[in-house]
Amino acid sequence: MSTGQVDSADKPLAEKDLGGRHLTHPVPLLDGSPQMRAIMRIVENVADTDATVLIRGESGVGKDLVARAIHAASGHRDGPFVKVNCAAIPSGLLESELFGHEKGAFTGAYRRKLGQFECANNGTIYLDEIAELPLALQAKLLHVLQDFLFSRVGGDGLIDVNTRVIAATNRNVEHAMIRGEFREDLYYRLNVVELHVPPLRERKEEIPLLASWFLSRFNEQYGRTKQLAPETMTRLTEYSWPGNVRELENVIRRLVVLTEGEQEFRALAARGQNGHAGPPQPASVVTESLREIARRSAREAERHALVAVLERVRWNRAEASRVLKVSYKTLLNKISEHELTPSWRRQF
Ligand SMILES: Nc1ncnc2c1ncn2[C@@H]1O[C@H](COP(=O)(O)OP(=O)(O)OP(=O)(O)O)[C@@H](O)[C@H]1O
Ligand SMILES: [Mg+2]
Repeated sequence: MSTGQVDSADKPLAEKDLGGRHLTHPVPLLDGSPQMRAIMRIVENVADTDATVLIRGESGVGKDLVARAIHAASGHRDGPFVKVNCAAIPSGLLESELFGHEKGAFTGAYRRKLGQFECANNGTIYLDEIAELPLALQAKLLHVLQDFLFSRVGGDGLIDVNTRVIAATNRNVEHAMIRGEFREDLYYRLNVVELHVPPLRERKEEIPLLASWFLSRFNEQYGRTKQLAPETMTRLTEYSWPGNVRELENVIRRLVVLTEGEQEFRALAARGQNGHAGPPQPASVVTESLREIARRSAREAERHALVAVLERVRWNRAEASRVLKVSYKTLLNKISEHELTPSWRRQF
């Protein structure tokens, strides 16, 4: 492992306690910069309390890993870690997803279903993209956070759970509160401890560590022996990483897997943060009917708008669906229809 500091009882918390038990890969690198070390110190301090933690930061900075680190260091570590992405579940189903429902509570409720809060009993529930929670559910969550008692949809018995709540968001919650989209009282309930995970461009010293770690991981995974040239490492360190650690991870994967991966990254770095997907398509020779032209143009315009908005909001799909005024589900369908991927993930 390339963490640089592996001996003694003083091993970093992430390595000591995550140990792969709650993660698909062990994570040695939650302490590669002063900012992350400060975060991990807070994690160690709060892990054993019941304090609700709100994790903030841009997409791809490592919020999920910090949440898992809190769980792994807490007294709930032997219980479940349940992640709920509040933006990915249609709002009509979210209440039942979180709190469960009784048989017959609504059409299609053929049997009782436990909610994620109950599934997370004696463990941790991680509410990702919390700012996407509809206002009515924000009210219910606020009550639950007060006494950890709630009822399933269509039921009146009160259920008591013992679960640690961690929430995360990459949205500007202050703006959401001003716009009346996020309850202030819920915000103050959630942010008993607030952790801000900074973007990777503000913790550049981690880039060589992370890059080497991803390199050895992907070399092993794909049976390669790829090395990074010193100038590539310099470029990696200088690049601004709008997609943060996730983007770095994907770039290294491509460097390992693709022969042109290195060239491709050089081009990406040269375009910098404001890179565009590519030159506009040349107009086709007119051989189509007007109706076909209209249909194709509408599709192209749709694709163009989707790419522009998604890149602008750094692939925050919830934000994109708001900007484009479509439901989250419609946006996901459109992304798959147009086979769109973030610029840093293309070809995977
Ligand atoms: N310190 C780290 N060491 C190793 N891998 C990391 C680290 N930080 C982030 N990653 C990797 O980067 C990717 C993104 O991390 P994560 O999912 O935790 O980000 P996030 O902030 O939750 O993003 P989003 O807002 O999009 O949900 C994951 O594949 C994760 O494993
Ligand atoms: Mg996340």
